[in-house]
Amino acid sequence: MYLLIPAAGSGRRMGSAWQSQGKASRNKLLLTLLGKSLLAWTLLAADASSQICWIGIIGQPSDWDDFRAIVTQLSLTKPVHFIQGGSTRQESVYSGLQALPPQAEHVLIHDGARCLATPDLFDRCAQAVLTCPGLIAAVPIKDTIKVVGDAGLIESTPNRSQLWAAQTPQGFSVPLLKKCHQEGRQNGWEVTDDAALFERCSLPVQIVEGEETNLKVTTPVDLAIAEFILRQRSTLTSNPSAQTQPS
Ligand code: C5P
Repeated sequence: MYLLIPAAGSGRRMGSAWQSQGKASRNKLLLTLLGKSLLAWTLLAADASSQICWIGIIGQPSDWDDFRAIVTQLSLTKPVHFIQGGSTRQESVYSGLQALPPQAEHVLIHDGARCLATPDLFDRCAQAVLTCPGLIAAVPIKDTIKVVGDAGLIESTPNRSQLWAAQTPQGFSVPLLKKCHQEGRQNGWEVTDDAALFERCSLPVQIVEGEETNLKVTTPVDLAIAEFILRQRSTLTSNPSAQTQPS
């Protein structure tokens, strides 16, 4: 399975996190959690997946030196390729698709900012995409969602039982996703995930049960929550009985 990691964003909503790490504002994937960058955590999970054989990191040239240093330090078991991204996530994924080797039939796309996705989630998505044209990891919504108009007034309350929060990995047939991106460019569609392009092209997108901990690290609060989850995981790894002990 081929994996593309969009990592070409800037992370404008992370300002104070950089100050607390004593560094000037950069790509948020270079922020660290327990001594490793967000990108490093994402790469470690992808490398531990039994299904992924090829990793493409989509980034900006200003980050190449740092990205290469991260990859070298991790001594990953899978080949890693560096692909130049664009000014939006959609453009970055488009560039990534052009850089896939011709034999790539299926692809997983996973945001570098979702650094807590587990190898098991990558494996489940990789297996499922062999049986359907498109899929996304997603979890049922817990909050009641409101549609709000320009005047700040609620317009409607969608039925929560039908609402899911989209995550990544998202997996697709490569020729179909390329076609959808092409349609999107021709028609000026602007979307925030790849499934939305599939939907616009009336192609089916399957849901794969995601992970509640698979959050997209966007704000300093997300960073604190991610650190808590990683600490819990390392406690469980060093003491597996911790999970089953009565409180
Ligand atoms: O900004 P946001 O967190 O929604 O971005 C989702 C993912 O898309 C991030 O991993 C980010 O690095 C990536 N991205 C990209 N190219 C852009 C903007 C965002 O690869 N131009």
